[in-house]
Amino acid sequence: MDRLLIVEKIEKRYGRAHVLGAKQEVTALLDVSFSIGRGSTLALVGESGSGKSTLALCIACLERPTSGKIVFNRNEITVLDEKQLREVRPQIQLVFQDPARSLNPRFSALELVSEPLLVQGRLDKREREARARALLGQVGIPQEKALQRAEEFSGGQRQRLAIARALSLEPKLLILDEALSALDCSVQAQIANLLMELQGRLGLTYLFITHDFAMAGHLAHEIAVMEQGRVVEIGAADEVLGTPNQEVTRRLIAAMPRLTAEAHAPRAV
Ligand SMILES: Nc1ncnc2c1ncn2[C@@H]1O[C@H](COP(=O)(O)OP(=O)(O)OP(=O)(O)O)[C@@H](O)[C@H]1O
Ligand SMILES: [Mg+2]
Repeated sequence: MDRLLIVEKIEKRYGRAHVLGAKQEVTALLDVSFSIGRGSTLALVGESGSGKSTLALCIACLERPTSGKIVFNRNEITVLDEKQLREVRPQIQLVFQDPARSLNPRFSALELVSEPLLVQGRLDKREREARARALLGQVGIPQEKALQRAEEFSGGQRQRLAIARALSLEPKLLILDEALSALDCSVQAQIANLLMELQGRLGLTYLFITHDFAMAGHLAHEIAVMEQGRVVEIGAADEVLGTPNQEVTRRLIAAMPRLTAEAHAPRAV
């Protein structure tokens, strides 16, 4: 399969001022390598602090890795300068856990979804509005709610808005960093289904970050498990779930609710 994203031996160290004045370094990522096939989903699972969000920021060109190489859409993005990065960034969009913090509560649904197009100077006003309305439709927000303010939507609807906004610039890769974690189970399932439907329709590629192995098994074709900055296990979702090799993988699988585990059969590639 054609690989949209190739990550090779990424390392990320953060300098941190120590109380006694000496500089201390934190290694957030160490020797991380993997790739994601175009149009497929890789779930990144790991305990808190294992480096998942740091990896997401490096891939989205919002942090520079200390060393290593990232190739996106056949283009090595780790060597690009700031001006060149501005052209790549719209193609890799991030959706975070907490839409209340990433969306301006005073903006209407329509404004939120058309703003990235305005900032990029794409399309005129009428075209922007038409495109934003179409996107709202795609994520299941009714047209009569287009002028409702973000703060007046439910958590699940706000996450739908965040997804519509992320899709407005037609990204190739969507990184979802714990994007469903704050939602109720039934809302999680609805949005997971929406993500799969959008993937089928638009050919999107997902990096789906989660603590939740059940959701990873449901959504992803492949699963990578992180521990202390390293990818310690990676493979087809059913293999990682069925025959985990690492202690941390077994621990994360044991933490998933049994009923959910049986309900979520892994996806075929
Ligand atoms: N800006 C930063 N400066 C210094 N250290 C950082 C910074 N960002 C992350 N770290 C450190 O890097 C490590 C990995 O953090 P990261 O946020 O990537 O973990 P995570 O897997 O996303 O955790 P969680 O599941 O809790 O979101 C942690 O030790 C963290 O303290
Ligand atoms: Mg995180």
